[in-house]
Order: sequence, then C-alpha cells, then structure tokens
Amino acid sequence: MIHYKTETEVALMKEAATLVSKTLTEVAKVLKPGMTTIQIDKLCFEFVKDHKAIPSFLNYRGYPFTVCASVNDVVVHGFPNNVALKDGDIVSIDMGVILNGWHGDHAYTFILGEASPEEIELVKVTKESLYKGIEKAIVNNRIGDIAHAIQEHTEIKHGYGVVRELVGHGLGRSLHEDPQMPNYGKRGSGPKLKENLVLAIEPMINLGTKDVYTDKDGWTVKTRDGKASVHFEHDVCVKRNKALILSDYSIIEAAEKANNQLNSTYY
Ligand code: MF3
Ligand code: CO
Repeated sequence: MIHYKTETEVALMKEAATLVSKTLTEVAKVLKPGMTTIQIDKLCFEFVKDHKAIPSFLNYRGYPFTVCASVNDVVVHGFPNNVALKDGDIVSIDMGVILNGWHGDHAYTFILGEASPEEIELVKVTKESLYKGIEKAIVNNRIGDIAHAIQEHTEIKHGYGVVRELVGHGLGRSLHEDPQMPNYGKRGSGPKLKENLVLAIEPMINLGTKDVYTDKDGWTVKTRDGKASVHFEHDVCVKRNKALILSDYSIIEAAEKANNQLNSTYY
C-alpha cells in the first residue's frame, strides 16, 4: 500500500532527510586517507544522537551499525571496519535516521584523493543519473519513467552495469514502504505517481557488469568482477511540475570541496 503524505508530513520528512545531509556533511569535513570507516560510523552515531534522532539502520533486521560504508567493489551495505582508507578509494556512506517519527535515508559517494579517471567518471555519471531520475518524479509519470531515465544515462549511454537485485523504495513512517523503485525499467510502466509520494531513489551502478553477490556476513553486497561500484541516494517528494528534493547535497558538496583543497595543500 502506498502512503501519500500531507504537506505537514512532507515538512517533517524534510527535517529528517536534512539531518542525514548534515551528518554526511560532518563526514565530508573530516574524510581523508588513513581514517577508518568505524571512525565514520562513531561520528555519525554521536551526531545523530546529539540531534535527538534515532539511527534507523542500527538493528534494522539485525544490521549492526549506524552507517553502511561501501568501499570500491562493495556496492551497498558494507560494514564499517578498522581498515585505513587509502588514496584513490571511493566510499559510499549511506545512513538513515528517525526524527519525530519520520525517516530520512540517503547516501553520497566520496572520492578520496586521486582515483582513476574511469572511476571519477563513474561517480559523476551515477550522480547525474540520480538527477535525471528525479526530473521524472512528477505527477502522472510512472515509476518506470524514473527507472528508465537512470538506466538510460548509465547503462545505455555509458555501458555501466545497473544492479538489478537492489532497488529504491517509498519512505515515510517506515524505512521501506511501497512502491519499489528500481534503477532499470520501461518508460510508462509501473505505478502512477501522485502528489506527495516520497521516494528514496538510489542508483547502484557498476563500472563493469551488473552482477553482484552477497558476502558470507549476510549483508555486504559486492561486484562479481571486483570492479568499482557507486551509490547515490536522495529522498524525493513527487510534485506537479518539479520534484521536491528533501535531502541536500549542496552542504555535503561544499564541505567536500573545502576538504579536498585542504588535503591537497599537504606536501
Ligand atoms: N539505503 C538502504 C536501503 O534503503 C539502506 C538499508 S541498510 C539497512 O535499503 F541496514 F538498514 F538495512
Ligand atoms: Co534507501
């Protein structure tokens, strides 16, 4: 069953989504080679607690951390660990909160220092594809229009692998609500979009083939070919003429830029 939100509820969901954006901004400020993803997880846990919210991934179906930290060939749901991040790593941080009973759930992929040109391009194109999808999140379009826009930009235009096993989702009082939001599909297919449906749109795009497997920890999803994968996620409210993005990359991007400049001044 699809839950459409009232204007008041959308405003509350924007607060939840923005808290995730602010938390990811704290990550963007400090992220650098030598850091571990466990340190990131702790920072996020504390930040969320300080803002009177609940980290929603922690204990969700037994998930043991605040964030998913997915490095290089890890697609999504990577466990934070004690391995030092290194120059050239590409790191997706995905995080959710519950604030005043409403969920925020979004993700950003960071590049540490100098990655390969093809990986930098993968990050850029995956982020672009998210916005191409969001452009279609308007009343009277269908889920398949969003899905197809993402697939067209990544798979058809750039030859990347679009993960089939995992999809985005509706978002609200629950982390995962109807409808499912795949990153591939046919134009004009699937449920029709009505005003104030809130979707977590989350392309998971592989440099190589689309094939993935789940590690023996039961969570970590990796690419079969060992090549890099990138994940971006926004919380988006369907509107009549232009979708309303509830999460906010601008603050993350500003912090990312400042941090990159700072780190590149070390000799
Ligand atoms: N963004 C992911 C999702 O919506 C994160 C879920 S991870 C989990 O499915 F730990 F909460 F399961
Ligand atoms: Co999600």
